[in-house]
Amino acid sequence: MSARPAATAAATTATADPCCAAPLPVLGRDVTVPLVTGGEVTYAALDYAASAPALQRVWDDVAAYAPYYGSVHRGAGYLSQLSTDLFENSRAAVAAFLGCREDDQVVFTRSTTDSLNLLAAALPADCQVFVFETEHHASLLPWRDARVTYLDAPRTPDEAVRNLERALAARDPHGPALVCVTGASNVTGELWPVRELAAAAHAHGARIVLDAAQLAPHHPVDIAASDVDWVAFSGHKLYAPFGSGVLAGRADWLRAAEPYLAGGGASRAVARRADGGVDVEWHETAARHEAGSPNVIGAYAVASACKALTEAGFESLVARERHLIEKVRAGLAEVPEVRVLSLFGDDAPRVGVLSFVVDGWNSSHFAAALSAEYGIGVRDGLFCAHPLVRTLLGGAPDEPGECGAPEAAPGERSLNAIRVSFGAGTPDEHVERFVRAVRELVRDGARWSYRTVDGRCVPDTGADTSAATGADTSTATGAGTSPATGADTAAATAA
Ligand SMILES: Cc1ncc(COP(=O)(O)O)c(C=O)c1O
Repeated sequence: MSARPAATAAATTATADPCCAAPLPVLGRDVTVPLVTGGEVTYAALDYAASAPALQRVWDDVAAYAPYYGSVHRGAGYLSQLSTDLFENSRAAVAAFLGCREDDQVVFTRSTTDSLNLLAAALPADCQVFVFETEHHASLLPWRDARVTYLDAPRTPDEAVRNLERALAARDPHGPALVCVTGASNVTGELWPVRELAAAAHAHGARIVLDAAQLAPHHPVDIAASDVDWVAFSGHKLYAPFGSGVLAGRADWLRAAEPYLAGGGASRAVARRADGGVDVEWHETAARHEAGSPNVIGAYAVASACKALTEAGFESLVARERHLIEKVRAGLAEVPEVRVLSLFGDDAPRVGVLSFVVDGWNSSHFAAALSAEYGIGVRDGLFCAHPLVRTLLGGAPDEPGECGAPEAAPGERSLNAIRVSFGAGTPDEHVERFVRAVRELVRDGARWSYRTVDGRCVPDTGADTSAATGADTSTATGAGTSPATGADTAAATAA
């Protein structure tokens, strides 16, 4: 397995992109992986919704800064000052990207999960929280210490607004309230009516936080224009996989809350008291919730991605993605055994995220075959949104077909689904290969046999467990490849 120069790789990714703009350059676009059936192919990364590849521009920016790396907010030296400026300028760049209001704060976190847990920890006393059951667990679960109302899955965007209005109208109008909603579903990719939900929340004296983990990489997010109070997103889904996320929005609840983490950086002054205790004066800025040494590279990478997407222009990014979505939808529509999951209906606007099940197939088996026989990386499972996927699958039987066992009887479905997702770096060839692979697998079946090892469905090579899973650590040094799954870590090194 190797990372081949673009010119050579072009032979396997030959299809010209007929649409509006070329994909943005991302790392890993020339990485090849072995197929269990023999030969190699360029890896088709179609799991952007989990983690998107780094934009080349982000990587270049980080590499250019790396020699100048220094401590943030602490050092007197030149590089410390430069790094501090870079960190604070990154904050400003994210604020501009999100269209923040003048007094909004931008807090750097580790991820969307971290951002929403931070907000949950900053809720005022007696806050009521309203959240749809359709949310990702990161949006569904952090509020357990509050009084939470879980709303049923709506079947149209209008119904979502009506359900929320009804629940808010019935609430105790005196205390504070927060609505948490996702901009784009990580399961169906469908867009939620954020502006209307924000209007409903505000009409009933509630605030609203937007989980933009799946929205921000695909669509412009404008805090002020959509009138949401906070936005949360993750760098690693926004082509900046360096460990940073963002919570941006209203300063008052954040300023009034205890620091998320107690420690240096969050405190302005600390002094012993006469009674032997310690007095702390906490910062009132975003630093209040950023105790410890900040991840300056992560923050800079997020800012770089924000600038790169803005400069590329969301209009053309959205147009290109729509073109890819159409290709996938049209291709899947020709395979009657495939059922695409949807809350709001087939024509609902969505980002480049689609989940589906295939009649007669165990989803893990199908995903494993896409990987091992076609070099396509998708995800299978319940996507950290168990209630939503259960609702969409409509109570299918639990385990109709073990991975690798004879296929389930036609008409049966597993309680797993397959998710394909893509974005700004995806060439047409990847989605074309995916559509062809789905068609061939459904028509001809898998060409290899598979078995479950450590809960994962992998090609059965007759070898021992480590060979079957590709977890051969020798490959980390480039010593070899695993034909079983194509999971050769040397590729990452070579890339
Ligand atoms: C809609 C949504 N919200 C939140 C998250 C959590 O993001 P992270 O794992 O980066 O914290 C995800 C991750 O898949 C997501 O899709």
